Amino acid sequence: PNVFRRELVDVHGVPLFWSMAEEWSQVESFEARSDDLLISTYPKSGTTWVSEILDLIYNNGDVEKCKRDAIYNRVPFMELIIPGIINGTEQLKNMQSPRLVKTHLPVQLLPSSFWKNDCKMIYVARNAKDVAVSYYYFYQMAKMHPEPGTWEEFLDKFMDGKVSFGSWYDHVKGWWEKKKDYRILYLFYEDMKEDPKCSLHKLLQFLEKDLPEETVDKILYHSSFNVMKKNPSANYTTMNTAEMDHSVSPFMRKGISGDWKNQFTVAQYEKFEEDYAKKMKGSTLQFRSEI
Ligand code: PPS
Repeated sequence: PNVFRRELVDVHGVPLFWSMAEEWSQVESFEARSDDLLISTYPKSGTTWVSEILDLIYNNGDVEKCKRDAIYNRVPFMELIIPGIINGTEQLKNMQSPRLVKTHLPVQLLPSSFWKNDCKMIYVARNAKDVAVSYYYFYQMAKMHPEPGTWEEFLDKFMDGKVSFGSWYDHVKGWWEKKKDYRILYLFYEDMKEDPKCSLHKLLQFLEKDLPEETVDKILYHSSFNVMKKNPSANYTTMNTAEMDHSVSPFMRKGISGDWKNQFTVAQYEKFEEDYAKKMKGSTLQFRSEI
């Protein structure tokens, strides 16, 4: 069967790729190890960026070592199962500890073994409007998604939570709440952009790791957008073009905060903000207002 451009399938109330839904028992029974580090994000929020930083930290800034393989093999995407192409749970089973594990699952769908093992987790959140824009271009270039439709149509689906991995609003709030009871470092893409060094020090502190200042600077350089964009083991260009077509839109697209201003009409902005206030009301989670 054609594995691409198929409709999403509901898994416990969350729309996911059809193949994840079919193989859900494999995901649900995934065995986390206590020294796993989970990288959790809503799609398009800085996953690849923080993954590259963490692999560099784990390898003490050894840049050549971090070119040993593509980012999706160094940091497997746990729940990604596409028959004949990739199986994140299998990749991880065969991987030596300590593992870096990527997930986009909303908090209520995370395999229970992560909680039982009290794994450390890093969550990265990015402002909703930039995520919506980045996701729209990603839907076009990454063919496992359904057709995005027009920007206007896609934005409505995003606001409705009818996109892959569901509602952004529930995702960021759900993980924010869990932070009270588990070892979760909650970071923001916008803070990482503004002060990458400060974010890197937060990561090191969370991991209880010390690195010489020159290694810190080396990591900052190699995880910067322009350097990662040129690095085939970080930029996803090694993926088959049938899966990701970078000529439609590169995976490393712009890497900035506030690109939504180039995409939203005034009417779309006003509708979005009104709906946003309703959906985020009552939560202590705050995104920076100037972006
Ligand atoms: S995915 O597919 O969900 O794992 O994508 P994800 O990696 O979370 O998000 C992709 C967006 O992150 C941008 N990006 C970066 N920004 C700043 N610095 C660095 N180093 C970096 N690496 C990736 C990438 O360009 C996507 O954002 P947009 O806005 O589309 O450019």
